[in-house]
Amino acid sequence: MCGVIGYVGGGAGPSFFLNALRRLEYRGYDSAGIAMLTPDGVAIERAEGKLSQLEKKLDKLPASAKVGIGHTRWATHGKPTENNAHPHRSGPIVLLHNGIIENYRQLKEDLTARGYKFLSETDTEVAAHLLHDEYLRQKSGSPEERLRSALRSAVRQLKGAFAFGIICTDTPETLFAAKLGSPLVIGQADGESYMASGITALVEHTRQFLVVEDHEIVMLKPDGISVESFEGKPVSRPFSKVEWSVSMMEKGGYRHFMLKEIHEHPIAIAQTLNGRIERDSGRINLADLGVAKLPLGNLQRVQIVACGTSYYAALLSKYFIENHAKIPVEVDLASEYRYRTSTVNAQTLVIAVSQSGETADTLQAVKSARANGAQTLAVVNVPGSTIAHNCHAESLTKAGPEIGVASTKAFAAQVTALYLLGLALAQERQTLGQAGLSMLMDELVKIPSLVEKALGLSESIEKLANRYQQNTSLLFIGRGPQWPVALEGSLKLKELSYIHAEAYAAGELKHGPIALIDENMTVVCLAPRDSYYEKTVSNIEEIKARGGRILAVGQENDAHLLDLADDFIGIPECSETIQPFMTTVPLHLLAYWIAVRKGTDVDQPRNLAKSVTVE
Ligand code: M6R
Repeated sequence: MCGVIGYVGGGAGPSFFLNALRRLEYRGYDSAGIAMLTPDGVAIERAEGKLSQLEKKLDKLPASAKVGIGHTRWATHGKPTENNAHPHRSGPIVLLHNGIIENYRQLKEDLTARGYKFLSETDTEVAAHLLHDEYLRQKSGSPEERLRSALRSAVRQLKGAFAFGIICTDTPETLFAAKLGSPLVIGQADGESYMASGITALVEHTRQFLVVEDHEIVMLKPDGISVESFEGKPVSRPFSKVEWSVSMMEKGGYRHFMLKEIHEHPIAIAQTLNGRIERDSGRINLADLGVAKLPLGNLQRVQIVACGTSYYAALLSKYFIENHAKIPVEVDLASEYRYRTSTVNAQTLVIAVSQSGETADTLQAVKSARANGAQTLAVVNVPGSTIAHNCHAESLTKAGPEIGVASTKAFAAQVTALYLLGLALAQERQTLGQAGLSMLMDELVKIPSLVEKALGLSESIEKLANRYQQNTSLLFIGRGPQWPVALEGSLKLKELSYIHAEAYAAGELKHGPIALIDENMTVVCLAPRDSYYEKTVSNIEEIKARGGRILAVGQENDAHLLDLADDFIGIPECSETIQPFMTTVPLHLLAYWIAVRKGTDVDQPRNLAKSVTVE
């Protein structure tokens, strides 16, 4: 879950490395380091804490270097100290790493016996010494050839996951990389080559990217790259162009990325719909949706695997996919699914939902489903990501880069993409008449402008946040599609404000959680006027009868709910199809404003990382 970057070209200064790392800081932010190679040798600076700490040391680095690497860490082995920060050095080799070396203990024993001294508690230092040891064993060829051959030999001895960036004082114009299981992209511009954990780090320098695949080693030079397998077989693949721009990754005047990204719900939804609905013919464009090559008409069931917020988007989609396409949908936490007995076959569509496209559990779950014969589809936000690479088909969510660690606009885009997929299934299975399909398409295109109106609630929710920032615990309830929205609201609140929060399907209250209700408990009740409205209102009455405090989210003209609630958030009038998109907005805003009031780190909450690329 760390971020790695590398550069080789005419010359780059410390600020180049720092800026690229800033774009990856969402991946981990407990320590960082930079190494730059010049004719005078290698200069390494590392610091504990966020990048701002490393920034204080930049003047100790050379003004420019033709080769360099940088790292921002999310600790797995060893505390987040300067000593454990990457890069790690062994003789002429300087190496940094994203991933986990699972067999590091055995290797460490062997290397210690051979005289290597370990200065950190990390698994990564093992890789640096192992590569050095292999390098010393190579007796013929240029330093570059020897290092390549040593790298092939070293990576074959490692178990686990890695994306390495490597420089060597004997090869002053070359950068090396190797990948297994952790994300790695290569960028190319005029006279410069780059490597990084994600395209966000490099978009301001190039739009031409190559996604490195597992078991590949890359040698980067200013004028080009060469790729080979761990066995030394040359690999050739074209670069592809990415449409993201730098402005998409700036705060654009907002105080936090998260607030900007909440305000981008409408555009994320609109872009995800764009080109996929053919209103003239009344059909879903399967090619634009990325599912033209899947046998949608012959499927018997759908399984969706995901983690965190993506899991809640998937849970929400179960309601409308089953309703419109009349096909059973199971939704699983990827971390559980990957270890369960597989029951898939060629008539099962397994969908992996992931903003980053890199989540380790989701990747393993979908790989296992594919190996067992399922059709697989990636619903991802980051183009060219590993999960997309491992599925039969890819449907992009088109929310644009999401930088805030808490996922917001990506959730809206995921629900939209899954809705479209539900309609595509309905179209191919002929479970909705043309009139029904057209009516739902008309509903979908209304969502961006209605959600825009819901964003107008921000100011009043900011005021409400004052009232709730002292709470130590909140419950969230909802029925039907509002239950996954409640789950999403409670996750957002806990990860941003560190306030304990739990969500329940409202009907479950009386099976246990109602025991928690007293005058100190606030329950956020999602009660738009939907098919479950009367039942949800009964639950609210039950909470009120036991002294609980009610913060209700309902339709803005709902006088009864307004009367019942202690606090009321009124969303603009809309149909049942659109309601989940609308109730999500106030919950994201509530979590945001409570966190701001509490003074927590909104864009980089403690202990979290945006892409969870370790199990
Ligand atoms: O990149 P993914 O969508 O696969 O990430 C899944 C979760 O790690 C992610 O949604 C996480 O729960 C966020 N912190 C939620 O805000």
